[in-house]
Amino acid sequence: MKKRVRVAVTGGAGQIGYSLLFRLASGEVFGPSVIVDLNILELPIAVKSAAGTAMEITDCAFDTCGEINCYDDATKAFDGINWALLVGSTPRGPGMERNDLIMSNGPLFVSQGKALAKASSNLMAIVVGNPCNTNALIALSNCSEVPSSRFTAMTMLDENRAKAQLALKAGVAVDQVKNIVIWGNHSSTMYPDFENSTINGKPTTEVIKDRKWLENDFISIVQKRGAEVIAARGKSSAASAASACIDLVKNLNTGKGNEVFSTAVLTNGEWYNLPKGLVFSLPVKAKGQGSYEVVENFKLSNFAKEKISLTCKELEEEKKVISNLL
Ligand code: NAD
Ligand code: LMR
Repeated sequence: MKKRVRVAVTGGAGQIGYSLLFRLASGEVFGPSVIVDLNILELPIAVKSAAGTAMEITDCAFDTCGEINCYDDATKAFDGINWALLVGSTPRGPGMERNDLIMSNGPLFVSQGKALAKASSNLMAIVVGNPCNTNALIALSNCSEVPSSRFTAMTMLDENRAKAQLALKAGVAVDQVKNIVIWGNHSSTMYPDFENSTINGKPTTEVIKDRKWLENDFISIVQKRGAEVIAARGKSSAASAASACIDLVKNLNTGKGNEVFSTAVLTNGEWYNLPKGLVFSLPVKAKGQGSYEVVENFKLSNFAKEKISLTCKELEEEKKVISNLL
């Protein structure tokens, strides 16, 4: 008998869902010997559309695709799941910052946190819906039955963007860029840490000698990439976001060969002098099946510390705004 894994995807009828669900069902994440059951959660008005997506997934005839269920009830959608991919929520439009969504999207993570509390305590929840760090804080605060360490907010798209930009600048393949970590908020204050990264095994600063480009252009490109995509497409990133989510689930599930990657986790007051109680993107190593450890030996220059303190302040401000939801 093949093993089974049950994955809930919220907002399955949306843009990201339309890419993410197919890739989950295809077997590329959990491997060819694991059957993937999908629980899609949508708003009542979008359940019919989600059912249409489910029909298409069935029509792909993936060997690894199990049951596909569509729900408009979070408790039913989360029953018995191993993974919760919390995508469903409104995206920003042109000219908005992601935290402009906080009052409209925040409350739905209260109810989803409560619904997750009734599901298995062994699940892993990834928050994609924006502003994802603070939404993850809301969800985990409303879900005392699941350990907070089982919640994370996705900054993998930012890591992928940073990696791709460094590879383009250095004229190398992306797999030559390692250890590129995003610190802080998935927002325009995030800090993509080029100082600890390497290209072809050498410090990035030795390969790309244009420090001005690294400190200014590179950081700004990564921080503003989401807005640039919105300005160009008229809609926020979708396939790249789904791809980053696939990368993150794979990394957390299998360990990424002991490599460091970025994801936002609840701070404990002990890492890098960060205050306790923020969902903050940090360097992590996966231990498999969703568990991970924060890598604590990154060296931070004064330049890095200044950037990290800015993104930390922003997260503290966001936390104040939604304190009634925690
Ligand atoms: P979309 O509007 O295309 O789809 C969102 C879907 O969520 C819709 O089908 C909607 O009906 C559904 N939804 C809304 N509220 C829901 C609820 N309470 N329960 C279940 N479903 C619900 O949006 P999208 O482009 O797929 O983006 C989704 C979210 O992901 C947005 O908040 C966007 O900003 C965010 N995002 C995050 C990242 C990241 O890197 N963290 C990247 C891209 C997008
Ligand atoms: C992104 O980074 O592309 C997403 O968070 C969508 C956005 O609003 O920028």
